[in-house]
Amino acid sequence: MELFPPKKIIGLDVGTSSIKLVELEETKETYKLKNFGLAKLPKETIVNGVIINADPLIQAIKTLISNLKITTKNVALSVSGHPVIVKKITLPLMSESELEPMIEAESEQYIPFDLDEVNIDFQILGVNEESEEQMDVMLVAAKKQMVTEYTDVLSVAGLKPSIVDIDVFALENMFNINYTTEENEIIALIDIGASITNINIIKNDTSIFNRDVFLGGNHITEELQKELSLSFEEADILKSGESIEGINQDALDEMISKSATSIAREIQRTLDFFTGSNYSEINHIYLSGGASKTKGLKEIIEESVNAPVEFTDPFKTIKYDKNTFDPEYIKEISLLSAVATGLASRKIGD
Ligand SMILES: Nc1ncnc2c1ncn2[C@@H]1O[C@H](COP(=O)(O)OP(=O)(O)OP(=O)(O)O)[C@@H](O)[C@H]1O
Ligand SMILES: [Mg+2]
Repeated sequence: MELFPPKKIIGLDVGTSSIKLVELEETKETYKLKNFGLAKLPKETIVNGVIINADPLIQAIKTLISNLKITTKNVALSVSGHPVIVKKITLPLMSESELEPMIEAESEQYIPFDLDEVNIDFQILGVNEESEEQMDVMLVAAKKQMVTEYTDVLSVAGLKPSIVDIDVFALENMFNINYTTEENEIIALIDIGASITNINIIKNDTSIFNRDVFLGGNHITEELQKELSLSFEEADILKSGESIEGINQDALDEMISKSATSIAREIQRTLDFFTGSNYSEINHIYLSGGASKTKGLKEIIEESVNAPVEFTDPFKTIKYDKNTFDPEYIKEISLLSAVATGLASRKIGD
């Protein structure tokens, strides 16, 4: 018996198009899926990571919690988008406790917001590759107001926000519990959501570059909506493979491929920026996020980046009871659950 059993936590990914909830149970070797659920959000509830309309979000969370009979109150959530800055900086070698009181002054030049308006956090990554007297530090600044808007919503919905993470890091945690990599292999984790594409490039289990690109599946939906005079909802289901009478499949495929190409181009620009400024290649790409399922998108990315591209399996090492969770359903939603799974693997106080 453990004297102080770890506090239970649920991972809740509040995305633009839907919320995803994952609860894991740690076993000896790996994790077991305890709970999973997804609830769609009405359009314009969240725009570019900012909560525009809190009520439908609170409602969706409450309904999901009650439908799944969730009793765990502690929740790990994540934020991304414009109000979040993640930056790798180089500083003279020092310990965490030495850096702590200096971090505000050191970060000022990198943060385009008033320091009073942000929560600052950092992680020492290790000695700089070029100079032994310097170290790399990952600096994270999130606008307090934005974090409070998210935590307030969760509190009103009856939960206890215990960990606030960043989408790209949640993605990395999900990857680390499921995959192993070769030494010095450079991996790009790319989560293509409805409005934001999170990109995190990792090497030897540390993030060496990350960026949010403000383009995702909604771009394709909006193009179809415009071209075919459909509602957003109709365009969205059409895009996911359902057919609507009177719509020519070839013309549709071409439209999808055109907007998928612009998403791939944005991704490529970011990866080119990374490879150009770091003189290194990307060895492997792992895709996740609902919009990564867009017909042909994976192939377009593969061609433009010239690296092997694979769909991520967030439940690769996670066991689940096939009587409780339908394997077909798990397969269908797994790509959308990457961030939530990473959040669920966090521990209070880690
Ligand atoms: N089978 C499919 N084919 C194409 N697109 C799909 C498919 N299934 C879902 N999508 C798209 O994926 C997007 C939703 O993915 P996801 O749930 O990862 O985003 P989100 O987390 O809600 O958004 P964000 O991360 O941008 O805030 C929507 O644009 C949806 O239309
Ligand atoms: Mg998302």
